[in-house]
Amino acid sequence: MPKRVLINGAFGRMGQRACYVLEKHTDFIVVAKTGRHDCLDDMILATQPDIVIDLTTAACVWQNAQTILQYPVYPIIGTSGLKREQITQLIDLSQKKKQGGLIVPNFSIGAILQMRCVESIAHYFSSAEIVEAHHETKLDRPSGTALRTAEQIQQVNACQPPIHSIRLPGFVARQEVVFGAPAETLTIIHHVSDREAYMPGLVLACQKVTTFEQIYYGLEYCLER
Ligand SMILES: NC(=O)c1ccc[n+]([C@@H]2O[C@H](COP(=O)([O-])OP(=O)(O)OC[C@H]3O[C@@H](n4cnc5c(N)ncnc54)[C@H](OP(=O)(O)O)[C@@H]3O)[C@@H](O)[C@H]2O)c1
Repeated sequence: MPKRVLINGAFGRMGQRACYVLEKHTDFIVVAKTGRHDCLDDMILATQPDIVIDLTTAACVWQNAQTILQYPVYPIIGTSGLKREQITQLIDLSQKKKQGGLIVPNFSIGAILQMRCVESIAHYFSSAEIVEAHHETKLDRPSGTALRTAEQIQQVNACQPPIHSIRLPGFVARQEVVFGAPAETLTIIHHVSDREAYMPGLVLACQKVTTFEQIYYGLEYCLER
């Protein structure tokens, strides 16, 4: 039975792509596309989705996440800008309610693999810096992915990598992690040239989320299951 999906932020750049990909996919039916002028509560009640994807803005994502969690649906929060303590609150609430969901700072499978490489390298290099570059309209800085990468490095070797953020036309997303040691450096670069890069991960998230019984943070939980 295809899963019913509501896409909030459906008319934005990510939202339009998500609609296009999920509408073509036999595992899913897009039952609602909502934007700034829709009432999310009313649309969830009217269309009874299994999954609600949020691809909106940092200004409204916290409110949207709380709204979505009031209903028996699986949230997938792809919007950037949630603070660490807000993520923790959402995870705690989902554990109490046994409600599956995902918060995905980066749907790109390449970005997840970059983080995995970085984690391995951090065992051997004790100094690192992160340079992340995004298009000029990205509101939040540093990016959620850079914060997550820094956290992972810190968990391995206790170094707190500085993050440098660039917001310029010409970029979609690029993250460079530079490790330094005496007389050598090692750099891992991940580069996205089009939002198409996020769609395989978004589909994977929709396929896996209904097997979860709490909210997880990161697409890696979908790759490991
Ligand atoms: N997780 C990932 O892999 C990933 C990848 C790329 C981007 N992102 C994030 O995803 C989000 C969307 O990115 P984008 O490039 O698609 O941005 P975008 O083009 O600006 O789209 C955002 C959409 O959300 C709508 N919106 C604003 N407030 C809303 C509200 N209260 N309720 C419903 N819709 C609302 C906007 O409508 P208006 O135009 O009327 O304001 C717009 O259509 C951003 O936070 C971005 O950082 C995540």
